[in-house]
Amino acid sequence: MKTIKDFDVNNKRVLVRVGFNVPLNEQGGILDNFRLEKSLPTIKYLIEKGAKVVLISHLGRPETRDNKYSLKFIALRLSELLNRPVKFLDDCVGEKVEQEIANMKQGDVILLENLRFYKEETENNLEFAEKLAKLGDIFVQDAFSVCHREHSSIIGIPKFLPSGIGLLAEQEIKILKELRETPQKPLKVLIGGVKAKTKIKALDKISEIADEILIGHLIQQEIKEQDFEIKNSQKIVEPVDSLRLDDKDLDIGPKTIDLFEQKIFTAKTIFWNGPLGLTDDKRFIQGSLAIAKAIIASGAYSIVGGGDTVLFLGKQGLRDKFNFVSTGGGAMLLFLCGKPLPGIEAIK
Ligand code: 3PG
Repeated sequence: MKTIKDFDVNNKRVLVRVGFNVPLNEQGGILDNFRLEKSLPTIKYLIEKGAKVVLISHLGRPETRDNKYSLKFIALRLSELLNRPVKFLDDCVGEKVEQEIANMKQGDVILLENLRFYKEETENNLEFAEKLAKLGDIFVQDAFSVCHREHSSIIGIPKFLPSGIGLLAEQEIKILKELRETPQKPLKVLIGGVKAKTKIKALDKISEIADEILIGHLIQQEIKEQDFEIKNSQKIVEPVDSLRLDDKDLDIGPKTIDLFEQKIFTAKTIFWNGPLGLTDDKRFIQGSLAIAKAIIASGAYSIVGGGDTVLFLGKQGLRDKFNFVSTGGGAMLLFLCGKPLPGIEAIK
């Protein structure tokens, strides 16, 4: 598979699919720069090599043009992080966009408007992909977090342009492949958070590589309700107590913290996806906080991923204490299960 380094990008229009789907607050303000920061090495590399950098991304799940999900403010934040202007265009295809790009100079950076303002993006419309492909000479896939989606900007564009992966996608693939294929054992996996339905489907595969899987309440409940049979069920470690409110388990309790800490301290590698309580609410962060601290103190090689977990660790100032923080959520879990990611296959 080609990477960005296999191309001569000097004076070329390089179309880069980035994963700028950042968490927003109610007013549409950016809650966390993490995914923007992770895209900087690729953007800076292209600038240094004299490319004209055209960035495309989605944000949220709008079904049509919706200002709440405009990438305008992301362009501003990105230009602060890059310390140079990032021009924002309020569309992602069409003549005006083509003209602006034709006027670019080497080292210029443009961010186009949200791809999902066009329903053609998620419909994987090939004509839409062709229109996007017209905006570049080379395509770079750096949005690892979206590579599980069969969308125009993910699997369509590579049909029309010479394509490679960016530095972030390359790093994600390398580290998650090592975790999947050659982890230092014992490997302990923690799976919490929401999206329990998708996650229990991943448990079978994960149980093949993990020595133990520690699960949160929602996952536990989903397994029970669905009567879901897990292949290596002896590897599953369930919570034994909880903090409850209105008949809901909103955090793991002290006994579970003790139990999970013991399991964590004997691990050589730890992979964590999904908080263990409702961490949006300060009353229910204690379990996840204790687990985060235990992972750090264990000295095990630690990998963490999933939007809520990454946001939580950022708020607690603990993110840089982990060995690797993935930008992926769903994409990362699928990759760990050994499933081919459409976005990566398309580049191959
Ligand atoms: C993510 O944030 O997980 C990716 O950007 C994918 O977003 P989606 O689930 O809306 O397709």
